[in-house]
Amino acid sequence: MAYETLLVETRGRVGLVTLNRPQALNALNSTLVAELNRALDGFEADPGVGCVLITGSEKAFAAGADIKEMSGLNFPQTYLDDFITAWDRVSQRRKPIVAAVAGFALGGGCELAMMCDIILAADNARFGQPEIKLGVMPGAGGTQRLTRIVGKAKAMELCLTGRMMDAQEAERSGLVSRVIPAAELMAEAMKTAETIASMSLPIAMMTKESVNRAYETTLAEGIRFERRVFHAMFATADQKEGMQAFVEKRPAGFQNR
Ligand code: HXC
Repeated sequence: MAYETLLVETRGRVGLVTLNRPQALNALNSTLVAELNRALDGFEADPGVGCVLITGSEKAFAAGADIKEMSGLNFPQTYLDDFITAWDRVSQRRKPIVAAVAGFALGGGCELAMMCDIILAADNARFGQPEIKLGVMPGAGGTQRLTRIVGKAKAMELCLTGRMMDAQEAERSGLVSRVIPAAELMAEAMKTAETIASMSLPIAMMTKESVNRAYETTLAEGIRFERRVFHAMFATADQKEGMQAFVEKRPAGFQNR
């Protein structure tokens, strides 16, 4: 099915989504969010996809929710339409998602990046939660995810002043895993996504689930969860293959089961 606001393709075992509303710096309107969910539904259902990569343009990953679309909304509309719940579906995906961020990742754009599992940033990337300048605050997880990731002081400052961080500051504060020269961002992000996609898919999915537990439970419960899942991994053919391949000094050929 055709997309109006995205470019969607599969490269090997990587599902690639490119946000594509250049005229609005990839502002996330309702069509884009619906299409993004449709693309992710397809990748989740496709056993040939082991990792998803979401990116934007060189100028903007996404400059936030579409302000022009949002500006006229009233409270009952936002409440009754459950505005934003569709966004959050990105964070509930089970396959690993890498975000490759160049240029602006602001407001909902920063929140979308934080819903992904790994953020790789081009050296021209800029992150921020400028909603306060519009008379609102982050509404797609920004006050919660950013605070857990970078800590209270920086999250508070960014949310209360709307100041942007550059890629280096974002890396120092733990928001991004690596900063990459802009010209190499896509090649490097594809390499990362391909590496993840070459692993056993169920093991990668369980690993994602386990790391995410760290945000949702106590340490003791998280450790218990990790141990249960770790034990369960010994029921997979991929555990046998992975360890046998090491012993035989050859690359593992995972069967994804
Ligand atoms: C709608 C947007 C937009 C947005 C940019 N555009 N951001 N349209 N929603 N979020 C449009 C501009 O109106 C303009 O269209 C075109 O994209 C190019 O933008 P410029 O401003 O001309 O570019 P530039 O001068 O380079 O400035 C870039 C920028 C600025 C600093 C990123 O565009 C900006 O401040 N954008 C808004 C960022 C923001 O406040 N984001 C938070 C949104 S609220 P025209 O037609 O004039 O050429 C949010 C809440 C999420 O995200 C909560 C969950 C839903």
